[in-house]
Amino acid sequence: MPIVRLHGSERSIEVGKGANLRRSLMLHGINPYAGVYRVLNCYGIGLCGTCWVEVIEGEENLSAPTRMESLNFRQPLKRGRRLACQTRVYGDCVIKLQTD
Ligand code: FES
Repeated sequence: MPIVRLHGSERSIEVGKGANLRRSLMLHGINPYAGVYRVLNCYGIGLCGTCWVEVIEGEENLSAPTRMESLNFRQPLKRGRRLACQTRVYGDCVIKLQTD
């Protein structure tokens, strides 16, 4: 099962192959949002752009960016950033949360 490690922390979580990254983080009590967006977000449908994470290692083990990510007007994604709600995990990776 893939391991998602949090950069700058000893914390890591084991997720099912193909698991949704946002859902997996939340299930383990890890909130990917910063500030008011912890409450004010689209709850995973890819519209708000506030669930982004930075992928430090293992980008090749994640699903390809979705159309929702490339069309997101609010948070144009920089290289290495992914919307957690649009990302599926197929292998080990290291991510950095916005709040780190
Ligand atoms: S939760 Fe809104 S874009 Fe991911």
